[in-house]
Amino acid sequence: MVAACLYFLCLLLYLTTGYGQDGKFSGPLKPMTFSIFEGQNPSQIIFQFKANPPAVTFELTGETDGIFMIEPDGLLYYASTLDRETRPIHNLQLAALDAQGATVEGPVPITIEVKDINDNRPMFLQEKYEGSVRQNSRPGKPFMYVNATDLDDPTTPNGQLFYQIVIQLPKIGDVMYFQINNRTGGISLTPQGSQELDPAKNSYYNLVVSVKDMRGQNENSFSDTTSVDITVKENIWKAPEAVEVIENSTDPHPIKITKVQWNDPGAHYSLLDKEKLPRFPFSIDQEGNIYVTQPLDREEKDSYVFYAVAKDEYGKLLSKPLDIHVKVKDINDNPPTCPSAVTVFEVQENEVLGSSIGIFTAHDLDEKNTVNSILKYKIVVQAPQIPIDGLFLVEEYEGKFQLARQSLKKQDSPQYNLTVQVSDKDFKTLCFVQVNVIDINDQIPVFEKSDYGNLTLPEDTAIGTIILTIQATDDDEPFTGSSRILYRIIQGDSEGRLGVDTDPQTNAGYVMIKKPLDFETAPVSTIVFQAENPEPLVSGVVYNTSSFASFRLIVTDVNEAPVFSQHIFQEKVSEDTAVGTKVGNVTARDPEGLGVRYSLRGDTRGWLRIDPVTGDIFSAAPLDRETESLYRVQVVATEVGGSSLSSVSNFHLTLTDVNDNPPRLAKDYTGLFFCHPPSAPGSLIFQATDDDQQSLRGPQFTFALGSESFQRDWEVSKVNGTHARLSTRHTNFEEKVYEIPIHINDGGRPPLERTVSLPVTFCTCVEGSCFRPASHQAGIPTVGMAVGILVTTFLIIGIILAVVFIRIKKDKGKDNVENAQATEVKPLRS
Ligand SMILES: *[C@@H]1O[C@H](CO)[C@@H](O)[C@H](O)[C@H]1NC(C)=O
Ligand SMILES: *[C@@H]1O[C@H](CO)[C@@H](O)[C@H](O)[C@H]1NC(C)=O
Ligand SMILES: *[C@@H]1O[C@H](CO)[C@@H](O)[C@H](O)[C@H]1NC(C)=O
Ligand SMILES: *[C@@H]1O[C@H](CO)[C@@H](O)[C@H](O)[C@H]1NC(C)=O
Ligand SMILES: *[C@@H]1O[C@H](CO)[C@@H](O)[C@H](O)[C@H]1NC(C)=O
Ligand SMILES: *[C@@H]1O[C@H](CO)[C@@H](O)[C@H](O)[C@H]1NC(C)=O
Ligand SMILES: *[C@@H]1O[C@H](CO)[C@@H](O)[C@H](O)[C@H]1NC(C)=O
Ligand SMILES: *[C@@H]1O[C@H](CO)[C@@H](O)[C@H](O)[C@H]1NC(C)=O
Repeated sequence: MVAACLYFLCLLLYLTTGYGQDGKFSGPLKPMTFSIFEGQNPSQIIFQFKANPPAVTFELTGETDGIFMIEPDGLLYYASTLDRETRPIHNLQLAALDAQGATVEGPVPITIEVKDINDNRPMFLQEKYEGSVRQNSRPGKPFMYVNATDLDDPTTPNGQLFYQIVIQLPKIGDVMYFQINNRTGGISLTPQGSQELDPAKNSYYNLVVSVKDMRGQNENSFSDTTSVDITVKENIWKAPEAVEVIENSTDPHPIKITKVQWNDPGAHYSLLDKEKLPRFPFSIDQEGNIYVTQPLDREEKDSYVFYAVAKDEYGKLLSKPLDIHVKVKDINDNPPTCPSAVTVFEVQENEVLGSSIGIFTAHDLDEKNTVNSILKYKIVVQAPQIPIDGLFLVEEYEGKFQLARQSLKKQDSPQYNLTVQVSDKDFKTLCFVQVNVIDINDQIPVFEKSDYGNLTLPEDTAIGTIILTIQATDDDEPFTGSSRILYRIIQGDSEGRLGVDTDPQTNAGYVMIKKPLDFETAPVSTIVFQAENPEPLVSGVVYNTSSFASFRLIVTDVNEAPVFSQHIFQEKVSEDTAVGTKVGNVTARDPEGLGVRYSLRGDTRGWLRIDPVTGDIFSAAPLDRETESLYRVQVVATEVGGSSLSSVSNFHLTLTDVNDNPPRLAKDYTGLFFCHPPSAPGSLIFQATDDDQQSLRGPQFTFALGSESFQRDWEVSKVNGTHARLSTRHTNFEEKVYEIPIHINDGGRPPLERTVSLPVTFCTCVEGSCFRPASHQAGIPTVGMAVGILVTTFLIIGIILAVVFIRIKKDKGKDNVENAQATEVKPLRS
């Protein structure tokens, strides 16, 4: 009983979803579903149903297939092995019956799901498969399928199949050309297969393909194999040969020009414009025929490259696009064109027969180096036909123009207009060539006369004056270097006093003065001109006497003022030069050789005197650098006799310094004071100066007391080269002005010295200022006077203090006391 119970429990573990409320293995009658693996041993209990009275038995109906049974006590079991592949689901009805066999409960649905076990092998539907593939087919796109079936439940691994290529024959270098989709069995090319398969090398392959169930992942899976024969076929999706399309076609368009074809029918074709043309003149139809849709123009574009594309019905590329090359073939549809409206050549008069005049090149847009663009030249008209027709020749193919008959003469015609016919295979174009005959320098300039006579000019004729116009003419072509005339003075003017300018319009030569004429050196000269061209003469032609002319230049004398040898005369002397010393000299010369007298002008200080005959200049008074360091006067030279013409020059006399100024106090020192009575000895600083020119270091004065009698009370000490300090030796001074003699020496060469008097006042101080009478007077103010002033002042201050604010008291006070403070003063504390 225990064993049976254990077995029962163990069995029920296989049963899955029971819904019994009383438990997993027994319960009242109600709808239930049971899952049972197929292939189990039979006579297995499924469930124990319980019925309530009056029910005494159960009835099982439906798809029992004679397998499912129920005992009267409600024990449901199955009696033979289940097979999912026969019936995967059994739908049963269960009812409870009373003793009379009448239904008292139910019927309720009982569902039995038969669960799969892997009890079926996969099997290929065919023992052998055959397929074919085009060379270069897209890798991964299946070209055939193998198909196996497995009866097991496809929703479980038992029925899920896994395909595999086991063997590929032949297999060279371990390269797989084929692959299989492991789920669908679709066979396709690998990328190598797509590239390398070539029916010309091997067109037949055999594969052994296996299929496994359990997704091929279980070692208990079943398998099957099949054989697959594959034929590799030639790829007909190939770029066609380049196509030639004749341009400017008049045939009705579109015109078929080539064709592409996909390996299998049903492909969708299109063209792809690779060059992104504004206008794409090609189309393709669904047979793969390619058309040109309008006339092409080689001169606009001579070749096209574009792609032909094949796609499947889903718009996916079947293979790589094909390059289509179209070359546009030339026809002669363009006439020759002239290089310009008129082509101009130039020929010199003297060029000989056969001389090349120039190359004439017309153009043709048609294809180069074909009959369509090879041009022929021919002269058809020469105008004028003077002196004869056929003066020119053109080489038929090269376009080289030559003189055909004789040298040209400008007199015959300065210009020839030629009409040139240019022809290609079909067209003729007329072009115009103009040949200009150019003059050469075969004419010399010829003077209108060879002698321009006598020309008299005063020697002071102004520079730039035109004194003569000369004229020669030249018969060469006007306004060229062959006819322009340059006049050159070849004789009579070695000094270059004259020049000739040519008017380019008239070739007139204007003779003008470039440098002053001089009677004294050249009173008469014969001037000879030569007229020349800038261009050289052609050989065989030379300048002859007709190209020369002359005139006689007579210069008359003019009385001229004396001329100083210098514009400024400069001298330098020491300022202490003695009166009557020669300080300089000037010289002037009269061009006419007259005597000269000198005089001074602007000698404002009367310092100088000039010798009227020699021009020597002397000092006439003591000179002083400190007054005028650069003395400027004018010197006048006047010719003696004649028209008394005079001229003026400058005399600058620089005075160099000598130490001729003694030192002095630098300023007025009348305001120096000490408050009286002094509480301690004090001192103050003063400064000296000197008017002489000082060295860069400045003056170096020495200071001393001027009298020995002062040495008891006073002391002088040097601060630096210009400043000294005056100190009191004690505090015992009277309230008065002391005049202190100070001896200052400038240390110059020779040294100069001076004793100056420095007035120092001892006075009663009011708020730091010296109180004393307004005017400075040496001597002692009387006591009464000082007291009176003091009392009055205090009185006024008192009144003001009474009426104004305290803060302005100080200012008011100062207004009433003389402020005699000097900057250098350091007053004693009062
Ligand atoms: C394989 O064969 C089964 C049964 O004939 C069929 O249902 C299925 O579509 C086939 N599969 C392919 C990929 O041909
Ligand atoms: C089956 O093929 C898929 C791609 O189609 C691949 O991802 C998968 O790895 C393959 N399974 C095995 C076991 O090779
Ligand atoms: C086509 O040819 C005709 C003469 O044959 C010419 O007049 C025309 O300009 C040409 N068209 C083009 C586009 O070249
Ligand atoms: C040549 O043609 C030009 C116009 O192109 C004209 O002015 C000139 O007079 C012509 N010369 C001759 C010599 O016919
Ligand atoms: C020019 O002057 C010279 C003398 O200087 C004289 O012989 C000659 O006759 C003069 N000629 C003319 C044209 O006056
Ligand atoms: C100089 O040559 C020109 C021509 O070149 C000629 O007309 C002229 O008579 C010649 N003059 C002399 C003086 O020989
Ligand atoms: C001054 O005269 C002397 C001769 O007495 C001369 O050598 C010197 O050049 C003259 N100086 C000037 C400036 O004329
Ligand atoms: C000399 O001393 C005075 C007073 O100290 C000063 O003002 C002045 O600049 C000094 N001069 C020189 C040249 O040092």
